Amino acid sequence: MSKEKTRGSYKFESTEKLVEDIRSGEMMIDGQFKGKDIVSMEQFSAYDVALVMERARLIESMNRERRATLLANREIAIPFWEPSTRTFSSFKLAAESLGARTLAIQGMWDYSSVNKGESLSDTLKTYEALGVDAIAMRHPDKEAALVAAYAVDIPVLNGGSGAFEHPTQALLDYYTILKETTHSPIDLHMVFVGDLKNGRTVHSLAKLMATMGGRMASFVSPEVVKLPRGLKKDLEEKGVHIFETDNINDVVRKGDVFYITRVQKERFESNEEYEEARKGVVVTQELVSMMDPKAVILHPLPRVGEIEESVDADSRAAYFRQVTSGVAIRRALFDLVING
Ligand code: NCD
Repeated sequence: MSKEKTRGSYKFESTEKLVEDIRSGEMMIDGQFKGKDIVSMEQFSAYDVALVMERARLIESMNRERRATLLANREIAIPFWEPSTRTFSSFKLAAESLGARTLAIQGMWDYSSVNKGESLSDTLKTYEALGVDAIAMRHPDKEAALVAAYAVDIPVLNGGSGAFEHPTQALLDYYTILKETTHSPIDLHMVFVGDLKNGRTVHSLAKLMATMGGRMASFVSPEVVKLPRGLKKDLEEKGVHIFETDNINDVVRKGDVFYITRVQKERFESNEEYEEARKGVVVTQELVSMMDPKAVILHPLPRVGEIEESVDADSRAAYFRQVTSGVAIRRALFDLVING
């Protein structure tokens, strides 16, 4: 058994309590990845993030044959309960390029015993009993990855848990930022745009940047989807200066990295609120022309109109290069949690 725990079951109360539970004790990485779960950026110190970056670079520098020995004869389950293009495919490609076999299933609602009413914990315990070495999953519940981490002893990697977090995405976003800019993270002015309330990638990346010493972050969104107050307070406590606005013109000339996001349609309870949220920014060539010549434009994708396709030809548009980073980071994470 690699995890020192007998956690049992986890019950969700609130996002604040979820954060508190992740921060308390044995979930923290503390420089030791082997056997750990990757549930949230709350678990990472700046040193831990740097270790992931270093491992990603190391594996990228290996040739195919060497790479394919790292997880030879290992098995990884990749059950996804929510749609995915990039995250699912890059988890699968990452695992297989390291020599592992994968049990990768999209549409878990339809194609598993969950459809017959089986619990999330039982499903994951089944993968563990089948002998897999790790589980990379996506689920619409905020607490799902923690429920999984409590249920099984093998490492669980969170590929998106409802509107809560998406830590592997934040790590690949940061890997991309390091490749695209010469600024140190401390000096970077991050501009987050879009659905800041429901966008789990925003939550994870904002936490990561604060952990790396980031001091300046602007958040641009309609009022209905502004950054959650608890997260804002946490970032401020870490020393981040926060500027909030609904007008991109306030910051377009000042930002270094623009992180654009989609309105998370699937998270809205009221149609009225969704329609309000859609009144956000559209990135056009005209807007990009006002940005710094060395600015970086990121988007976790999928985009549904937030960035015009004509922007893609601009050298500052890095969102497809960002996809490439996904494989590098997920290889690094599998290698770290399984081999140490
Ligand atoms: C994001 C997600 O699933 O949270 N996509 C991704 O993983 N690259 C963003 C989104 O769905 O808008």
